[in-house]
Amino acid sequence: MADLVNLTIDGRLVAVPKGTVIVDAAKKLGIDIPVFCYHPKLKPVGMCRMCLVEVGTPKVDPATKQVVKDEAGNVVIAWMPKLQTACTTTVSEGMSVRTNTRQVADAREDILEFLLTSHPLDCPICDKGGECPLQNLTMGYGPGVSRFDYDAKQHNDKHVPLGDLIFLDRERCIQCGRCVRFQDDVADDHVLQFHERGRHMEIITFSDPPFDSYFSGNTTDICPVGALTTADFRFKARPWELASAQSVCAHCPVGCNITLNTRLETRTGGYEIKRVMPRQNEQVNEIWMCDKGRFVHHFTRAEDRLKTPLMRDANGQLVEATWEDALSRVARELSAAASVAGVIGDRLPNEDAFLFARVFRDLLGAAVQQQAGLFVSPRVPAAYADIARDYGIGATADFKALGKGDVILLVNGDVEESAPVWFLRLRQAVVERGATLIVAHSRSTKMHRYASQILRYDAGQAAQWAEHVIRNTQHATPPLDLEQIKGARNLLIVFGDEKLNEAGARALARSLANLLILAGHAGKASSGLLPLYPHANTQGVCDMVGRAGPLPERVDVAWLVGVGDAEDVPQAAFVIAQDLFLTDLAARADVVLPALSFAERDGTFTSGDRRVQRFYRALPPLAQAKPDWWIIQEIARRLGAKWRYSGAEAIFGDLTAAVAGYAGLTYPVLSETVEQWPPMGRADLYYGGTVYDNTGGLGMRYPAGVEQTGFTPHVEWLPAPEPTVDALRRPVPALYRDGELIRRSHVLAGHLIAPGEIPVLAK
Ligand code: SF4
Ligand code: SF4
Ligand code: FES
Repeated sequence: MADLVNLTIDGRLVAVPKGTVIVDAAKKLGIDIPVFCYHPKLKPVGMCRMCLVEVGTPKVDPATKQVVKDEAGNVVIAWMPKLQTACTTTVSEGMSVRTNTRQVADAREDILEFLLTSHPLDCPICDKGGECPLQNLTMGYGPGVSRFDYDAKQHNDKHVPLGDLIFLDRERCIQCGRCVRFQDDVADDHVLQFHERGRHMEIITFSDPPFDSYFSGNTTDICPVGALTTADFRFKARPWELASAQSVCAHCPVGCNITLNTRLETRTGGYEIKRVMPRQNEQVNEIWMCDKGRFVHHFTRAEDRLKTPLMRDANGQLVEATWEDALSRVARELSAAASVAGVIGDRLPNEDAFLFARVFRDLLGAAVQQQAGLFVSPRVPAAYADIARDYGIGATADFKALGKGDVILLVNGDVEESAPVWFLRLRQAVVERGATLIVAHSRSTKMHRYASQILRYDAGQAAQWAEHVIRNTQHATPPLDLEQIKGARNLLIVFGDEKLNEAGARALARSLANLLILAGHAGKASSGLLPLYPHANTQGVCDMVGRAGPLPERVDVAWLVGVGDAEDVPQAAFVIAQDLFLTDLAARADVVLPALSFAERDGTFTSGDRRVQRFYRALPPLAQAKPDWWIIQEIARRLGAKWRYSGAEAIFGDLTAAVAGYAGLTYPVLSETVEQWPPMGRADLYYGGTVYDNTGGLGMRYPAGVEQTGFTPHVEWLPAPEPTVDALRRPVPALYRDGELIRRSHVLAGHLIAPGEIPVLAK
């Protein structure tokens, strides 16, 4: 427990850890000290003076150095002659603070009066209106009238693009510096700055391209006024018109907790997502998210979403069909087939993948399974997901606890491009809390900035390198110092599968598991493997489906569920495709079945660190599209199954009974929340209005194999094959790599990275 400091705020005693600032200490007592520039996730700067309070400390006799007491024996407080900023003043033993005196109230009125001298009367049209700290604090603490002349207001540009995703209204900016500090201190993208002085001071971007950061949207959340707005939400809706649903981002292995704000559109007559915002989960994304998660949602209402089943007619054309005809045709083909390959994408929720696997195991018979079977696409991460699960980080591991004494080893992965919010969290562990970072890669990534040791190998050689280096850690001059790693409090190994084929990626994962065992960290709660999977539910889908054998070249029927334009699907006489869009692959199918997106249904995802999380329906179903689990169940029933699942929750009940590690999880358990610090929420004056409370659940990480009884860690070396040409040609991870979803977001389309391109690092 950190050293506690005792102080009194408005006559009430509180004990808080040493180093706490007065604003936070007051918040512990439920006392809101109004702030603008202070934000608990940023370093305090004391720029706005909104948080002025009276501060006193115990009077000390200069002669005796003793604390002075009055006749009644009470400590005499020496009040500072001027008000102090509560956001930069740290607490001290015996301190007294007054937040509700006339002097404090006058100071707040004055600060607001000054701020409003040059703030436009934009509230009726401002995006922040209704959830604006400046509005709230003016109502709560501001003067009834202003002594300043309205006509003397400063007039500045109101629609300044800071890049193509974020706009600045210069008149509304109150120069709190939150946006600059977020970019500098949290994202480490130094792309914003103050320009000019005094009343001419303004925010500018100086990067090329402008506002070059994957995290730019977060500045619009923490901006305490409506100065920063997003390109797709500005002037589009008022906060009170929006419905909100708690969800989980479906686009990378982090599993950021998000809120989907929706509204009925008169233009289209249907509901649309208007904006995506983070919801607080200190275990996962704190209060942040990346721009892909925030802006890619437009695919959910793309014009070309599949809306009805399609079947190939006598002329070979795909034409609209009824569900009954399409499902019956599919069931007939599956019943008659001698070999069926089921390929499922790793974006599908757990419930759907579980049912799909059951069709193959329970309904399609041994002969079919032997000849083909069940495969997860893409196959490279599927090849090592079991190792990542067995030797993964502990169920109670906390990113926030990583720091001094811990070693983070990053091998063959690009954290910022693959899992942006993990980049923020791992960077914090290194830069702010002193964890040691060792990076091994064939090229540079942003994480290299913080490495205390950098190791190199040729592209595609990660598996050979790892085997060689880890086997030779006892060597006289090893590149990897086993003694240092053994002496660490914890060893977190973050890894990717860049330029590796299935065998190479599996060999790499196995070597890294060996390192955990050899260094004595296997099974420790905060040690283990953290895979940089390509999608949101790679772990979950692999947990449901299990490892596959070699992919057959040709089968009677290929059943493709959510695979997009995957390359690794077998040739088939008859192809069934379930998807959101008529991808090139789906366009060659014989039956195409329209599926719902994550926003139109509920379910669970398992993040890359094995946290199982619920997401809730935000939009009504689109046209005739159905959840994948429903489509799979209807096909299964036509193959003889007696399934009658009414929804994802019912399937989850059977899933937890059948899938190793998931025992004990239920929807109510996943929906549990606890009080989080710092307290964030829409109604809270404290931090800025627009981060959503988490009422949907914090999820739960299931135990790694090594944490389960009966599991014995063992060292095993797998042959590390030479890199194949195909693997070497595979593009490196890029957040905005061209794909079915980003392409359909008009705001992100300009950021697309073509297949051969490597994301530019210079920021
Ligand atoms: S744009 Fe917003 S966050 Fe940035 S300095 Fe201005 S008011 Fe603060
Ligand atoms: S970091 Fe990953 S999970 Fe979080 S918002 Fe971005 S894509 Fe989504
Ligand atoms: S000076 Fe304390 S909140 Fe700005």
